[in-house]
This record gives sequence, C-alpha cells and structure tokens, in this order.
Amino acid sequence: MKAVEIRPDIFWVGAIDWNNRDFHGYSIKKGTTYNAYLVRDEKTVLFDTVRRGFKSDLLHHLHQVTKPEQIDYLVVNHVELDHSGCLPEMIDLIKPEKIFCSPMGQKALLEHFHRPDWPLVVVKSGDELKLGRRTVRFLETRMLHWPDSMFSYIPEEKLLISSDAFGQHWATSQRFADEVDSRELLAHAAKYYGNILLPYSPLVQKLLAQVKADGLEIEMIAPDHGLIWRDDPGLILGAYDRWSRQESRKKAVIIYDSMWHSTEKMARAVESGLQREGIKDIQLVHARKNHRSDIMTEVLDARAVIVGSATLNNNLMPAMADVLTYMRGLRPKGKVGAAFGSYGWSGEAVKQLNAYLEEMGIEMAGEGVRIKNVPNHDSLKDCVELGKAVARAM
Ligand code: FEO
Repeated sequence: MKAVEIRPDIFWVGAIDWNNRDFHGYSIKKGTTYNAYLVRDEKTVLFDTVRRGFKSDLLHHLHQVTKPEQIDYLVVNHVELDHSGCLPEMIDLIKPEKIFCSPMGQKALLEHFHRPDWPLVVVKSGDELKLGRRTVRFLETRMLHWPDSMFSYIPEEKLLISSDAFGQHWATSQRFADEVDSRELLAHAAKYYGNILLPYSPLVQKLLAQVKADGLEIEMIAPDHGLIWRDDPGLILGAYDRWSRQESRKKAVIIYDSMWHSTEKMARAVESGLQREGIKDIQLVHARKNHRSDIMTEVLDARAVIVGSATLNNNLMPAMADVLTYMRGLRPKGKVGAAFGSYGWSGEAVKQLNAYLEEMGIEMAGEGVRIKNVPNHDSLKDCVELGKAVARAM
C-alpha cells in the first residue's frame, strides 16, 4: 500500500488490517483499517496513529511524504487503542512539539499511558490551530463514542477528520467511498453504526443539528476506519440522520435458540402469523449460528424484535443471553416485540426473555407463548396468533 493524497498536501498514512476478524466482540468479516492522516503545511501534523503492531505500515506511509522527525504536532482525536496503540513509540520517534487532545482526551491519555511528561495541549470545541495556509478547528464529540472523542475540521479544505464516526470496518485497497460498491459500503457503515454508535443516537442527532446550525461546509469526511467519503458525504450524513432517529422499516427479526427444534418450530409459526397479517420482510436468526454483531445489524432497521428460547437448567439458552445482553447495551429504541419458548418441566425462559425486552423499553405485543416439550398443530396456533399480534402492533 502507498500513502494516498486525499487533498493537496493531505495524505492518508494509516494501516490496513486484512486479517482481523474480531474487534472486541464485533465480527469483522472483511478486516478493517486504522486510518491516520498527515497534513503538510508550515507546520506538519499527524492526526491519530494506528493499532499496536501496525507501526511499520504507518512509518512506511509516512516516509513516502515526510520524515517522521519533521512532524511538528500530533492530534489525538480518540484515545481508544486501535488509534493510539503505537502512540508511545511514535512520540519517542517524532518528539512532537505539541500533542493536541480534548480535555477528556488528556485524562484518557494519562490513564492509558501514564506519561505526564508528554507535551499535551488541551483544546476545546471551537479552538483553532493555525498551520500556515490551513487551520484546524476542533470539535469535541463527547461519547461519540468515548468521552475523549473529537473531530478536527479543516475549513480551507472543507475536510472533516471524523474519528470513529462515519467509519466502517472494511479492509480494501481503495481509499475512497466512490471507488467501491455503494451497497456493500453502506451495509458495513450500518453494521458499524448499529454496533458502535447506536446507544449515542440522541448525541448524533444533536451533532448533526449543530453542524447544520454552524453552517459547516463539508466536502470530504475522513473517518478513522474504512473508506473516505469524497464525492457525496451527504450519503453517509443522511444515513446517520436516519439511523440516529432509529427509523425502522416494516421488518421483523425473530431471534431464537432451540435444543431439539421445538422452539424452532415455534419461530416458524410466529413467522407464519406475521405473514398472515401482511408482513413480508421477516428474518429468522438462530442465535448460535449467527454472530451477535450481525444480529444487531438486522435489528437496526427492524420494527419488531421477537425472541425465543428453550429453557436450559432454569435459564435462557446461553446464546440468547449473549445476544440480549449485547443488545440491551446498544439501547435500540422504537421497537415492538414478544417472546416464546418450549420447555420440559420448569420453563423460566419466556419470563426471562420478557424481562430483557421490557428493560429495553420494547412495546410488548403479548405475554408470550410457552409450549411444553414438542409442539403440535394445535399448540402452534398460539404462536401464529403471537405473530399476528406483533404484526398488528407494527
Ligand atoms: Fe476505532 Fe473507538 O476506536
């Protein structure tokens, strides 16, 4: 890979992680990138670094455009280790005059690296840094998605360096969004939103409103992961508006785990009930056969979330507890739902499923259906009715 000039004298110098398949529990089937950007001006600035283990890629790209020791400043837009893992080594090498970070970034850097000797300079929203011909304007974006997160905006280039926001986990040799298949790109961006930013949707709405109110002109968005939005940043800004409003489609997701296929039969009967009430877009998702992060991507734009589990040793099936614990943390809003499950003797699962759904504020379409051991045509009618009730609530 080579450094890529994304604007005159502004370069992508990051690293591509082709082989990573697990990002702290988020499945990344096509790898990821750790983007870093270098601006060459009277002062030369490096925005973020890369994950530990990728320093040689960063250095290889930097050497194509400058000598590392000629970098004057570092900007730490985000302290999470996929962007700061090789920061200590880079600081030792570069010996920057100043390292700019947000107030919470300063705390996080000290707590991560314990180096009070680093020349940290705290910047707040609206603060500007003159580089020569260009300016960097900082914008704190607390909890998007960490307390320290911030954006760097270069008005002369109408360029927003957006940290994790607007990113995607997708390793490609292309660097720009308009060079790849747009459907696949948006699917990766949706998965990223649904698994990383969803809990902070009200803050995303606030941020988008602020960008509009400030009249921030954005021609290019350069995130810390994946492709750079060059020709039409409106595409991803519009998608973020929809996702952060938690707009849903008339789509139902049935997530279940089964021991001896009884709960699976119930899932199919619920599907039948949904279909009978005119719902066409239904996804049946086996919790043990699909990754939690893919399930969450399906949930992102679904109006209904219906969950089923057999009872195992007085509990939910473990894969259902995994998915629901993960989902609860991501705080989906505006959903309707219901629960079902088969059992042998005690049958606690449906009660536990209901508790998860209620805790997430999901509007319940019924009390749930339990069937002892193996269902038959008659008992499955209750599941069909449950599907119909959910469809009406959608
Ligand atoms: Fe890509 Fe929050 O780190």
